[in-house]
Amino acid sequence: MIPVFPDILELEDCLSLHEIKKMTQKKLYIETYGCQMNVADSEVVSSILKEENYAITNDAKEADLILINTCSIRDNAEVRVKGRLDNLKILKKDNKNLKIGILGCMAERIKDKILEDEPAVDLVVGPDAYRDLPKLLNTISDGSKGVNTLLSLEETYADINPVRLDENNVSAFVSIMRGCNNLCSYCVVPYTRGRERSRDPETIIREVRNLIKNGYKEVTLLGQNVNSFYWEADNTDFPALLERVALQDSSLRVRYSTSHPKDLSDKLIEVMTKHDNICKSIHLPVQSGSNQVLNKMKRRYTRESYLERISAIKNAMPEASISSDIIAGFCDETEKDHQDTLSLMKEVGYDFSYMFKYSERPGTFAAKKFPDDVPEEIKSRRLSEIIELQNKLSLESKQKDIGKVFEVLIEGSSKKSDSELFGRTSQNKVVVFPKTNYKTGDYAMLKITECSSATLRGIPVN
Ligand code: 5AD
Ligand code: SF4
Repeated sequence: MIPVFPDILELEDCLSLHEIKKMTQKKLYIETYGCQMNVADSEVVSSILKEENYAITNDAKEADLILINTCSIRDNAEVRVKGRLDNLKILKKDNKNLKIGILGCMAERIKDKILEDEPAVDLVVGPDAYRDLPKLLNTISDGSKGVNTLLSLEETYADINPVRLDENNVSAFVSIMRGCNNLCSYCVVPYTRGRERSRDPETIIREVRNLIKNGYKEVTLLGQNVNSFYWEADNTDFPALLERVALQDSSLRVRYSTSHPKDLSDKLIEVMTKHDNICKSIHLPVQSGSNQVLNKMKRRYTRESYLERISAIKNAMPEASISSDIIAGFCDETEKDHQDTLSLMKEVGYDFSYMFKYSERPGTFAAKKFPDDVPEEIKSRRLSEIIELQNKLSLESKQKDIGKVFEVLIEGSSKKSDSELFGRTSQNKVVVFPKTNYKTGDYAMLKITECSSATLRGIPVN
């Protein structure tokens, strides 16, 4: 008779925990719209769901769960998401178990409408409720809807180590605060992302150290208005946090976004000047060059005080690049106001700008108080003039770089050619150059030889 050793047999037959986990693993496909904050949020969501045994897939067709992290900033952002949802929900025909969720700002803003109009949507989760996802996923397993759009005064996801969704492993976003208290009259963000709150600096530093350990070379500290970062327990303000991050490793590049012009302090400029690894690029959205419009936008600075901050930056860091956000056709904007915007753009000489037509957002102060009265064709014409001027300024800014040498952090292969790489200068300008011996994640010294309004071209120098 053959002896039987049940224990050993059981052990051999038994799958390892790892194998079982793999067999039962579900696939998550997550698509992100809107700002960098949303990218960082999708990484938090992925981390929460990884704990629930979800693996990320880049193929929506093989997903068990599709999440769309949405943006409400302008009407066309919402229209785009709706179009995408129409495409993705078709996948439910072939996969009866597929669940679809709407996350982020649209979930917050139009929860009821989504649930009413879109029976294919199973989950609606606002920006402060991502920790509730595991519970909500249980709720929807029997076909019920899972909804949580509660905003929080405290949530910063401080303890969650985000799963990095970018593929280059060179640069990462680190969220340092959430929400916004500025209440600019045109802006929906305070309503979709709630009140401003800062994240414990210790957890930020821990996340940055982890990134350094994993080979990352650049971090971008993110908040709607990073200048108002404040952690009371140890009296850390934004310049102090930025300095602490910069001191973690002198070969780590540090960027941040976004600054509000009303509180970009001298202390911040001083810290930027002091550390070579803090990138010399400042995104300082002006929105309009007219005091009348700025006042209506409730921006709480004037054209003059904005230009004074620009002078302070240029005096301390002549090499710094300055970029902006500009809105064309805000309520009541006259031709003179528009000309003021164009003249301010020239005076600053922006290196780059994001430019938009004003889009009325329901519930905002402007939507309640001011008629959206600039006709569509005038908005379009003004926006075209702003874009045309910015293209000219961008080209001039890049032409000035020809002949200079810049240190570039390499981010990957150029989209147009495998024999070329691309990276960014400290000023956040993209440089394309021949591959030679470099690889992604390296620093290279490049001499600029040519440019277009969007890109620099360079050659390595030793
Ligand atoms: N319409 C057009 N642009 C807007 N922005 C914010 N709200 C609106 C709106 N209602 C722009 C601002 C902001 C950027 C993120 O989006 O320029 O800085
Ligand atoms: Fe869009 Fe603003 Fe929400 Fe970011 S915070 S996703 S830009 S609405």
